Amino acid sequence: MQNHSDISTRVEQLLNKMTLEEKLGQLMQLAANDPKSLELLETYHVGSYLHVSPKVAEHLQLRAAKTRLGIPLIFGSDAIHGHCFENNTVVFPTQLAMACTWNKNLVRKMGEITAYEMRQCLLHWAFSPVLCVARDPRWGRCGETFGEDAWLCGELAAELMLGLQGDGSQEYVEPNHVLACAKHFVAYGEAIGARDAYEAGVTKRRLLETFLPPFEKLIKTHKLASLMVAYQAIDGVACSASSWLLNDICRDEWGFEGIVLTDWNNIGALHTIQNRASSYKEASKIGFESGNDVFMATPEAFEKTLELVTEGALDEGIIHRSAYRVLYRKFALGLFDQEAKLTEGWQDKLGAPDSWHYSLQASRQSLVLLKNTADLLPLDKCATNNILLVGPNADDVFAQLGDWSFGSKQALHTKDTLHKADTVNLKTALSLHCEAQALGFRYIKGADCIDSNFDEIALAREAAKSSDLIIACVGDTLDQHGEFHDRSDLTLSGKQQALLEAMKASGKTLIVVLLCSKPHAIPWVKDNADAVICAFNPGPKGGQAIKELVFGEISPEGRLPISFPYSTGQLPVYYNKYKGWHAFHSPQTEGQERYIDAPEAPLFAFGEGLSYTTIEYSELKLKNAALPHGQDLEFTVDIKNTGLRAGVEVVQVYLHDVYSSVTTPEKNLKAFERVELDASESKTILFTLPFDCLSLVNEALERVVEPGEFELMVGASSKDEDLLKVSFEVS
Ligand code: BGC
Repeated sequence: MQNHSDISTRVEQLLNKMTLEEKLGQLMQLAANDPKSLELLETYHVGSYLHVSPKVAEHLQLRAAKTRLGIPLIFGSDAIHGHCFENNTVVFPTQLAMACTWNKNLVRKMGEITAYEMRQCLLHWAFSPVLCVARDPRWGRCGETFGEDAWLCGELAAELMLGLQGDGSQEYVEPNHVLACAKHFVAYGEAIGARDAYEAGVTKRRLLETFLPPFEKLIKTHKLASLMVAYQAIDGVACSASSWLLNDICRDEWGFEGIVLTDWNNIGALHTIQNRASSYKEASKIGFESGNDVFMATPEAFEKTLELVTEGALDEGIIHRSAYRVLYRKFALGLFDQEAKLTEGWQDKLGAPDSWHYSLQASRQSLVLLKNTADLLPLDKCATNNILLVGPNADDVFAQLGDWSFGSKQALHTKDTLHKADTVNLKTALSLHCEAQALGFRYIKGADCIDSNFDEIALAREAAKSSDLIIACVGDTLDQHGEFHDRSDLTLSGKQQALLEAMKASGKTLIVVLLCSKPHAIPWVKDNADAVICAFNPGPKGGQAIKELVFGEISPEGRLPISFPYSTGQLPVYYNKYKGWHAFHSPQTEGQERYIDAPEAPLFAFGEGLSYTTIEYSELKLKNAALPHGQDLEFTVDIKNTGLRAGVEVVQVYLHDVYSSVTTPEKNLKAFERVELDASESKTILFTLPFDCLSLVNEALERVVEPGEFELMVGASSKDEDLLKVSFEVS
């Protein structure tokens, strides 16, 4: 195994032999699905490609081996929820669905399986995890995130990173692991109006308080290998032109040693979109001087940067340093020490049954039960004879798998047949079940997510007459989310709402399954459905998991990592909001901080999710009611399963700094634990939180813990009524 100084020596020896052109080539990452970029390999000494198929990877490595120094290429891919851009690999639920599991082990496992399958395909660099915080679901990319809470995003992203990178050791990447790339740096989800990649109006204090800490955590505690710079500008400064973010914060303050990669043509966009630079040449200078190491998909920068260095307008030392970082990772990955060939039977190593088992587990645990009137679910087998299934998403692979997978086609070598055979949709799962149980079953699509003219409502209404129970699977589909697919209206699209209303009018029991990429504004569903299940792009086995939940073969374990709005205009409704005060004077709002025409609370809150049993919380006890400065916060809480079935509880811990020099959110998640409880079982859960979880960023932009009163809240969700509360003083 190589250590840091071995690698460093090898990198320096190689760099000593390299021309400026060869070093610069290491800083170019080009798109393999563009034939022109492939031609540039030798002329531009290209160091990296993205979106490469296994065969092309093998071929390109052979070409690279024949160049003067034979430096291997490094290949990047958007392996976001599994290595989805390859056939027969294991696809997982999307990040947002994974966040619903609140299960760190499963998230780590997803990373491990993804890395293993990437390496079989000769790829080394996963553009994952996504650390964006989704605080406005109009944004198209919510499904790629771990939800609305920055702290939770950091916790889960750290697991995903460890799964991808292995133990996080900087010196050596095990053969079955890859480099992780935390993205998008930073506050990308905060773009104004939730419009993808628009300017974000975030202050430095909010960055330091909320959006930077997840990245800091990955860098400081786990030696992150790389990060990707966001597209947008923050308070007027494009992220890729922000020396403050990249040089001062990342490098100087956090000591980041990894690679800073731009997003797609970020550097070109400094000239062509953001008008920060009057030419590609100026953009390239800004790009390198601001701290970017590798430019993704801006081939124009190669020649312009050569000119800059030759003219003395750009310090060659910057190029040398960035090339060092890239070569370091190539050595750490062992690329110089192994032959880059697909191994015998490499395809058979993909999609192992064990790995699929984890994907199914994730699908199951990602389902969130949001309503269950009179314990309708699980269905009583004896009382159910004829089931009518309606809705477009009971039979839509695109909706089930989500973005960056089947059919999303960002990597052009993928086909839209990918993963189709692996996918069990709700229609198939239910019909097989009903056949085996001799139950009546019928499926009618009824409505379409996109096509408003698609209307089979009359047919569904007719079929409802001879059914005992209706399951409606509605939501959104691939064309309604993802990059530059933001929405101004989060109600159900097409004739889905009309279909639901017709089903309700039939008088039959109605279960609504929301199979979607993100929260929707669906107050009607909450009020009118007898049961509601949320299934954020639940993965290939999602249909099977939903069927199992409905029939009680599994119990619901998921909790929402993001709030559902009551209406689109109520956004944002994330739970860690600040307190307003004017509303206290308004008789129209009954003293609540709300719009005069909408309730204050979200439709479904962060952390919310039912199970098939009931859990009681009691005895929230602090070790010290007065916490000396610097000491860990220790406390216990008792939980008891008061129902007749085993269940999983996600115990959530929130804190509030009651009096502080700056305004602070009413509560912030600081810890959680997933606990399994048998029927009637009780457990005492002990928490030990580090003292700095009480910190805030003050006016002088320093992270400090201010003495005074704090409130600790522990319970089943972020809703006040679900939380036990106790106060304490920090001296
Ligand atoms: C996205 C990134 C992605 C990159 C490469 C960009 O448009 O913002 O998340 O990694 O493309 O596919």
